[in-house]
Amino acid sequence: MRPCKCKCNVLSALILLVTFLFIASSVHCEDPYRYLTWKVTYGDIYPLGVKQQGILINGQFPGPQIDAVTNDNLIINVYNYLREPFLISWNGLQHRRNSWQDGVYGTNCPIPPGRNLTYAIQVKDQIGSYFYFPSLGMHKAAGAFGGIRIWSRPQIPVPFPSPAGDITILAGDWFKLDHRRLRRLLENGHNLPFPDGLLINGRGWNGNTFTVDQGKTYRFRISNVGLTTSINFRIQGHSLKLVEVEGSHTLQNTYSSLDVHLGQSYSVLVTADQPVKDYYMVVSTRFTRRILTTTSVLHYSYSKTGVSGPVPPGPTLDIASSVYQARTIRWNLTASGPRPNPQGSYHYGLIKPSRTIMLANSAPYINGKQRYAVNGVSYNEPDTPLKLADYFNIPGVFYVGSIPTYPNGGNNAYLQTSVMGANFHELVEIVFQNWEDSVQSWHIDGYSFFVVGYGSGQWTADSRVQYNLRDTVARCTTQVYPRSWTAIYMALDNVGMWNIRSENWGRQYLGQQLYLRVYTPSKSWRDEYPVPKNALLCGRASGRRTRPF
Ligand SMILES: *[C@@H]1O[C@H](CO)[C@@H](O)[C@H](O)[C@H]1NC(C)=O
Ligand SMILES: *[C@@H]1O[C@H](CO)[C@@H](O)[C@H](O)[C@H]1NC(C)=O
Repeated sequence: MRPCKCKCNVLSALILLVTFLFIASSVHCEDPYRYLTWKVTYGDIYPLGVKQQGILINGQFPGPQIDAVTNDNLIINVYNYLREPFLISWNGLQHRRNSWQDGVYGTNCPIPPGRNLTYAIQVKDQIGSYFYFPSLGMHKAAGAFGGIRIWSRPQIPVPFPSPAGDITILAGDWFKLDHRRLRRLLENGHNLPFPDGLLINGRGWNGNTFTVDQGKTYRFRISNVGLTTSINFRIQGHSLKLVEVEGSHTLQNTYSSLDVHLGQSYSVLVTADQPVKDYYMVVSTRFTRRILTTTSVLHYSYSKTGVSGPVPPGPTLDIASSVYQARTIRWNLTASGPRPNPQGSYHYGLIKPSRTIMLANSAPYINGKQRYAVNGVSYNEPDTPLKLADYFNIPGVFYVGSIPTYPNGGNNAYLQTSVMGANFHELVEIVFQNWEDSVQSWHIDGYSFFVVGYGSGQWTADSRVQYNLRDTVARCTTQVYPRSWTAIYMALDNVGMWNIRSENWGRQYLGQQLYLRVYTPSKSWRDEYPVPKNALLCGRASGRRTRPF
């Protein structure tokens, strides 16, 4: 009897163990982990032919590309070897329930020199093209930005044939002044000067060659990583078929050139359907009196003919054509997104927003210095990240409602740590109202929103008749034309402290930003994750405990 019993025990123990392993693996192995180690250093770069101090990631300028698949967990350990505090933020990653990973000063303490921070980011329910950038101290003027591609899961169809190549284009304006000098200018109350040039992937005139095979189709993912200007992108002799905008698959319209405003990302398909030779890939500044242009080379395999002919001109000051183009960018309602269902199954246009928020930008002088403001409030950095102050109930750092939800009409502006309150599950209409002569670009962290309309002049309730409530794209960055408005719908389904900012970096630095605190009284992890165990603590949050007692 005894040996049998013993055997049975072993058997049941084995069954238990196998069951346990099975459960453990199905919990932990569902969404893969990708581990990255990034070393951030200074290094000499020569993007416009003169030596500058750049900020490199693992020795690279621009930084390494991130490739992920929907729902992957990215564990990115960032070591700061600079002599100044540093943070990386992620343009377009939604950090569901987890604004702790957003990497802006309102949510994270800076990584002190010589220290590191491990970000744990899940790209939950996301696909598409984005980029990362350094969020503090004008570091973005020195590099440390790079592309992010989130690929669809293999079983989910993408609405175009797999391209022969997938090429990231990080383009934008560039200054010869280093980031410290630019920072000093801003702090002394001046805006940034006109940039010195444009770069494509960190290089100037014909600094890159992209090789293609005749007859094949390539995906180009273009992001504007610049500081001050909208750009126009085009390729000599080739058309651009738009397929994706910040995670939304679009109607596949064909364009001869594409406007890319600050902080925006687009994917286009380009078929190498021209005679075998080399062609210019061009970016030029948009809406500027002086026009900066730079080029790369689209090289056909076996081509023996270098680039030739005039660099194809693009639109410059004209605004109407840009508005027209913006309105043609629409969602493909029958294509899959991050999930396999057709995107049209969520009818954003049938839901009535619970309220309207209007955000108006302005350029006031405060205490004799140039500042930028939203609804008369110019954002002032607190001494403690807002998210930490909120979590630890530290009084006096900010108060909810420190910025009005409508412009006050007057020209007065003041400095304040502006935080607007909103409730989890609200659907809000946000109108960006621009009374200035310059194009604005607005970004909202943690969200993808529907851009329902662009119109000129002052927005009123009657402007809603112009809305596209059927098939506009969902994205995270939108432009607002001069003396015009842009309206968005946003479903507040992500609890957290989220930065709303100008993507014009001088304006952002001098106060054109605020935080939206999307709140629920529930303390459930279903709604929001608690503070990460490894969170850096600073300011009035120093010495607090991030682990439960
Ligand atoms: C710094 O890196 C170490 C080694 O990988 C890691 O254990 C630690 O959690 C990191 N620090 C932070 C604050 O994330
Ligand atoms: C939309 O997506 C569907 C499904 O993938 C595709 O068949 C169709 O061609 C796309 N339509 C347009 C206009 O891009």
